[in-house]
Amino acid sequence: APLPDLVIVGAGLFGLTIAERCAEELGLRVLILERRHHLGGNAYSERDPETNVEVHKYGAHLFHTSNERVWEYANRFTSFTDYRHRVFGKYQGQVYSLPMNLALINQFFGRSHTPDEARALIAEQSSEIATEDASNLEEKAISLIGRPLYEAFIKGYTAKQWQTDPRELSADIITRLPVRYTFQNGWFSDTYEGLPTEGYTAWLTKMADHPNIEVRLETDFFEVADDYKGKVPIVYTGPVDEYFANSEGRLSWRTVDLEESVVDTDDFQGTGVVNYNDQDVPYTRIIEFKHFHPERERTHLPGKSVIVHEYSRFAEEGDEPYYPVNTADDRAKLLKYRELAKAEPMVLFGGRLGTYKYLDMHMAIGSALSMYDNKLKPHFTEGAELT
Ligand code: FAD
Ligand code: NA
Repeated sequence: APLPDLVIVGAGLFGLTIAERCAEELGLRVLILERRHHLGGNAYSERDPETNVEVHKYGAHLFHTSNERVWEYANRFTSFTDYRHRVFGKYQGQVYSLPMNLALINQFFGRSHTPDEARALIAEQSSEIATEDASNLEEKAISLIGRPLYEAFIKGYTAKQWQTDPRELSADIITRLPVRYTFQNGWFSDTYEGLPTEGYTAWLTKMADHPNIEVRLETDFFEVADDYKGKVPIVYTGPVDEYFANSEGRLSWRTVDLEESVVDTDDFQGTGVVNYNDQDVPYTRIIEFKHFHPERERTHLPGKSVIVHEYSRFAEEGDEPYYPVNTADDRAKLLKYRELAKAEPMVLFGGRLGTYKYLDMHMAIGSALSMYDNKLKPHFTEGAELT
């Protein structure tokens, strides 16, 4: 078969954005190699066959952005519902409205506070430790929001997320712990927010639906690399350490175990996401997917609901890498991998795995559009070198 003009490793949002731009705007023939059985990367979703509820297979995905260009771009492939994400948190038998806000403060301290009173209360409680003196995550959190809120809403949840006592975690894992002195409880504060009307897979499939784009599923790049390396430009969105056979050591990640079940009730928890802050509850969150699409209520099987318990832990070999741990050791390795990546001819590294960065979907799209503008388009239209 003739060589394509461009090979993309990974059919996630980063790879799909590059593929779509190069095929549509430059008329290039693009080959996407994807080792999973589906495209879409971690944003992939499926309808549960029994209940017809859309389930995000790699954890709940909520789209939000303040980037006009990304919003306009995403809307070429899908419309978005008016879903607004809210999160609630359980602690010692009560349910609180998150992020920390006036409703939570009033409920937690058992009386009403004006915004000024609440502000004064938190200032007083956080004066126990000066932020600049904080030597670990616990002290940092207490210095920002005080001990009572820390112990209820940060301590247990963080310990479960990291499987580590917050006193053993670095203070710079958190920079801010915003407390809202209003009743506003929208989880995101971006200009645009919503869920793809026909679902994530319809959106992501449409991005690749172009005569110049071929998606080859269940194909691991490393098994066919010799056919393409050094012969055609490659955009690689897999793990950067894996590309170099872990020569500088493995980068560490956290993963999430997702335990999906169908329960015999129309409504399990009344909302999409409930965090579990008690340390003795082993899971961090329960997701109930039908609440992400209230407009689809009539299409869901009555009397049933799909829920997912999430458990967080350090990733081991073979686990899905989800969140970079980013220790000092990881950062040192990453610098070496960046040097190797820069020196690798005709290969650009992108996406969350290729750059070892947590990227929201809008950031993955935005960063792919920048790579297209700054590297690929100049290369293919003006012969600029690919570095
Ligand atoms: P990915 O989606 O990971 O795609 C990379 C692809 O490359 C994968 O399909 C992988 O199989 C493939 N690949 C890797 N190596 C190879 C190889 N050797 N050969 C062939 N293929 C390969 N973002 C939001 O905006 N809102 C959210 O609510 C949100 N929730 C999230 C929840 C979780 C648990 C996680 C982990 C992420 C969440 N995100 C969310 C982020 C979102 O998933 C990312 O922005 C998006 O996945 C980034 O796309 P990507 O293309 O960089 O990477
Ligand atoms: Na303080």
